[in-house]
Amino acid sequence: MKNHQIVLLPGDGIGPEITEAVKRILAAAGAQIEWVERTAGVSALTEGSDVLPESTVEAIRQHKLALKGPCTTPVGKGFASVNVQLRKRLDLYAAVRPVRSLPGIKTRYEDIDLIIIRENTEGLYSGVENEVTPGVVMSMKVATKTACARIAKWAFRYATQRRRKKITVLHKANIMKMTDGLFIDCAREVQRVDYPNIAYEEVIIDAGCMKLVQDPGQFDILLLENLYGDVVSDLCAGMVGGLGVVPGANIGNRGAIFEAVHGSAPDIAGKGIANPLALLMSSVMMLNYLSDREGDRDLLRVSERIKAAYNRALAEGQKTLDLGGDLGTDAFAQAVVDRLE
Ligand code: NAI
Repeated sequence: MKNHQIVLLPGDGIGPEITEAVKRILAAAGAQIEWVERTAGVSALTEGSDVLPESTVEAIRQHKLALKGPCTTPVGKGFASVNVQLRKRLDLYAAVRPVRSLPGIKTRYEDIDLIIIRENTEGLYSGVENEVTPGVVMSMKVATKTACARIAKWAFRYATQRRRKKITVLHKANIMKMTDGLFIDCAREVQRVDYPNIAYEEVIIDAGCMKLVQDPGQFDILLLENLYGDVVSDLCAGMVGGLGVVPGANIGNRGAIFEAVHGSAPDIAGKGIANPLALLMSSVMMLNYLSDREGDRDLLRVSERIKAAYNRALAEGQKTLDLGGDLGTDAFAQAVVDRLE
């Protein structure tokens, strides 16, 4: 099997614990990976570097692939989000988050199979804020035709490749007529011209959230601008067992970063109880992406082995605390390793 160099950012909070667990499982499954470890986030600051060191950005540019733990962002003050900076600087414009029911995890819903595609580079995440006058502050929502059209094209191409049936845009173009209006205009046009065989609908996001929790089965792929994608990802995570089980990818034309949807979970950091599954699932997505990119079928076999092993572990009731089980991070990782076939 070919050796692959992949950048690893352990991140903050629970990040180092879960990345260690995932590294261990990938090695046991036979993935030939040479990790190029770099820092980002509060951990980088603690080591005396910038919050996002240039060497980290350069390493990802060079290797075009990273697995990333969560990075903490201070609330209401302090440095800008490392996560957002990375996505913007590397132009990782498509965030993909599959939300699926898993064996052995009982929730209010069954057979959830949703894909969330989030525009990852603009909207209110542009971070253009200013104080107009004391007591009056403003935040700018940015939408460009280029970014709206490219995420729509990406989403429809993804739908075609994965044989998905329908894309629903959740929007608020009744109020934000220009920005969200441009987002739906672009999606509508891409569908009309290039993908008439994929069903397409537009739903105002507030009613869309109600429909999602009442009857998620009516949706297939959800396409959203940046902030809505962030919020709806966590909402949908709640349908399948929580943030411990939803993976993600940030993909651009020149590389990708794979990371869980969840954050650094400061409330449980350092306790050895975080669920490594969302990051493990992200690493499975990463192996599939790399297999496609490099034409390396062995990677696909490794990712299938890992997926089968964690599904077996869950089905046998091997779960971390967040899922109602009693295993810590390492014990769950071991349960997966023990079930690799
Ligand atoms: P969070 O996702 O870190 O935590 C929310 C809740 O889910 C907490 O109760 C936490 O314990 C639980 N949780 C999250 N992941 C878990 C896991 N793997 N296993 C078990 N329980 C888990 O969200 P929060 O508290 O809003 O944010 C904390 C920090 O993370 C903030 O600084 C935020 O900016 C950052 N963040 C970073 C992200 C990234 O790096 N991509 C994404 C989201 C938040």
